[in-house]
Formats: sequence, C-alpha cells, structure tokens
Amino acid sequence: MSLPQRILLGVSGGIAAYKACELTRLLVKSGCEVRVAMTPAATEFVTPLTFQALSGRPVHTTLLDESAEAGMGHIELARWAEAVLVAPASADFMARLAHGLADDLLATLCLATETPLFLAPAMNRVMWANPATQANRALLETRGMTLLGPAEGDQACGETGAGRMLEPAEIVAALRERHAAGPLAGVRLTLTAGPTREPIDPVRVLSNRSSGRMGFAVAAAARAAGAEVTLIAGPVALPTPAGVNRIDVETAADMHRAVLERLPATDLFIAAAAVADYRPAETSAHKMKKSADTLELALVRTPDILAEVSAHDPRPFCVGFAAETDDLLDNARSKLAGKGLDMIAANRVGPTLGIEQSDNALEVLWHDGARSLPRAPKEQLARDLVALIAERYRTLHPIKEDTTLHAQD
Ligand code: C5P
Repeated sequence: MSLPQRILLGVSGGIAAYKACELTRLLVKSGCEVRVAMTPAATEFVTPLTFQALSGRPVHTTLLDESAEAGMGHIELARWAEAVLVAPASADFMARLAHGLADDLLATLCLATETPLFLAPAMNRVMWANPATQANRALLETRGMTLLGPAEGDQACGETGAGRMLEPAEIVAALRERHAAGPLAGVRLTLTAGPTREPIDPVRVLSNRSSGRMGFAVAAAARAAGAEVTLIAGPVALPTPAGVNRIDVETAADMHRAVLERLPATDLFIAAAAVADYRPAETSAHKMKKSADTLELALVRTPDILAEVSAHDPRPFCVGFAAETDDLLDNARSKLAGKGLDMIAANRVGPTLGIEQSDNALEVLWHDGARSLPRAPKEQLARDLVALIAERYRTLHPIKEDTTLHAQD
C-alpha cells in the first residue's frame, strides 16, 4: 500500500497544529513531496518557517500573495496535488468547507481541487459533539471527503473525550490504507437513486417518499472505493458526491432510457431508486378540473429497469433494493430469484426506519449467503454495503495485475 506522491498539507488553526510539523517530517521521510498551506489562524500557533524547513518548500499562507502566485498559483497548486490532507481540521475549517466558502487560501484550494480530500479533525470534545459540527461532518462525508479520526483521549483544554487529532504516525498509516487502490478500482458503476415522478397533468404527479439519501450515500462510498460512478437520479434535493457523474431524470421512462444508454459501459449496476411501478395511462395536456366526487385514473405498468438490465446479455453484476413493510426476507428472496439478481439489500420501512429517515438497517442476501447490516446512519451503512458488494463482485471478477482493466474487456 502506497502513499500519494504529491501531498498538499493544509494546516488550520488549533493547538494540534504543532503535530502537523511531525506529520510533515514523516511524510517527507516516506518519500512524499509535501507542500504546506496554512490558514492565518494556524500561523498563530506555528510559524510558516518551521513548515518550510521541514518540507523544503515555500509555505503558502495567503490567497493574494503576488510572489507566491507567481511561483505556483493556487489553482496550479490545487491541480498539482495527488491528495489534499488537512491536519488539523478545526471545527471552523470544517464548517467553512461544508458550506463552500473560499475566504482564505486553504479553503479556496479545497474548493478548487478535484483530488481526494482527507481531514484529520481536532477540537474540544463538546465542539466535536455539537450537532452543527456533526451535520458538517455528515455533509463532508456525503460529498466524498474522508475523515481520519478524531480519536478519544486527553485534550489540550484539560478535558477527555472524542475530538483529539490522530497521532502523526496514525494519520500516515490511515492515509496509506485509504489511498491504496480501492476494491472497486476501475469498475464502471451505474446507479439509480431517488423517486420518479409520473405526470398526471402539467401540475400533478404520482411519486413516492424516497429522499435518494441511501442511493447518494452508496454513490459516494463506491466512488471512495475506486469505482467510476454514474448516478442516474430522480428528482431529489441532494448535492452530487465529489467525483460522481450525475444524470438527472424525472420519469421511470427517462430513467429506463438513461440506464440502457449506459449499459454497454456498465460492469456493476445498483438499483437504489424507488421507481414508480405505474404511471397514468395518459397525461393530460391541460390542468384537470375537479367536478365529480370521485375520479378514476387509469394506470399502466412502467418498465422494470432492474429486471431488464439483469436479463440483458452480456449483463453487469446486478444489485437491487427491496423496501418492505411485511415479510421482509421472503419478499427479498423472491425478488432476488425473480429478477435474477446477484445481490439484494432489503430494508424494513416504517415510521422510524428507511424512507425519509437518516438511519437505516439492511438485510443483504445473495444466492448462497446473507449478512445483516445493523441500524446505522445511511453514510455508514452505505460504506458497509459497498464493501460487501465489492467482496461478492470480486469473487466473480478478481483484481487483475492491471486494475484499470474493466470486467467486460
Ligand atoms: O419489485 P420492486 O419494485 O419491489 O423491486 C425493487 C427493486 O427493483 C429496486 O432495486 C428498484 O430500484 C428496482 N426497480 C426498477 N424498476 C422498476 C421497479 C423497481 O429498477 N420499475
């Protein structure tokens, strides 16, 4: 397992900034080229000169520094990096990053880079536990950033708890592990997510309560595992995870078309969308007027996208979802067999789980095995599910020496 060769180390303002000196030394010693960017607050804790001596390179501190921009400008620096590591990442820095601010050099670099972003949070335990920080953490993870730590233990403020930055050697080890080619490296994943909307007339639709959160979390987790992800999304109010190619659709027919177009370039298909099973037989061109006390709508079936993809020859590895209120396992097993799937992830839907909720729990089934993934936030569950899918996928398509080869090549 190797480290990224070119690391942009961001240092934000916190007492743990002193540990970033040792981190720089360890990374340089491991053969990495390290360039350091500091926030103004970080320079109050450690001088740029220290990082310059340890990295052997000029340190970047301000956005509007003519001489620094003449050397390696901020956009060039953002492009140069193979990985961006912010250690320590303060509560303030995480908040600014979560909301896309570009109010100093480091925040601008993070916004301007397309390379993987790693954050090693460091803050007082109450600040870490604060719902605002936790919401920012979840948002950053949803966007595909990787958090390394924090650890629990004694804090500089005299308290004990979660929020302490990982030790420099632990950060290097975690970076090495996370940077290694992921289990889905080079795999072309097409994924559907969210609801579909079937028009009744120009203002009314038939739809469902799917938020798309589980599918989007799976897209982010699969990207982090190295997959090339195309996310075909129904109407949802969610940000696109970093590095994911998104296609927005409205109806089941649009989704069907978009999936079939991607099929020749799909090794793995995950159907997380809650596709409407029926659509109005006719869509009125004008807003329908109310008159009678009852109204009958004729509905017709929509295409079963997943069943069709699974029956295709050649077919990708197919994973379905089954949201059920009753007989969870029996229904999931019959869908696994009926649609000819490789795997199915079944979840019970009810008032506190599943659709529209932030937590979920899954029963994952395949033809000769099963695994329960207990109740957890959807982001965590998505990572566990992707690890399991990768494990099953790799039993059929083992990693070749050259991981850039595609399964169907
Ligand atoms: O049969 P059921 O709708 O319960 O199956 C759920 C699975 O099938 C999900 O993975 C869903 O994304 C997929 N599906 C589909 N096209 C449909 C209906 C369901 O791809 N029209």
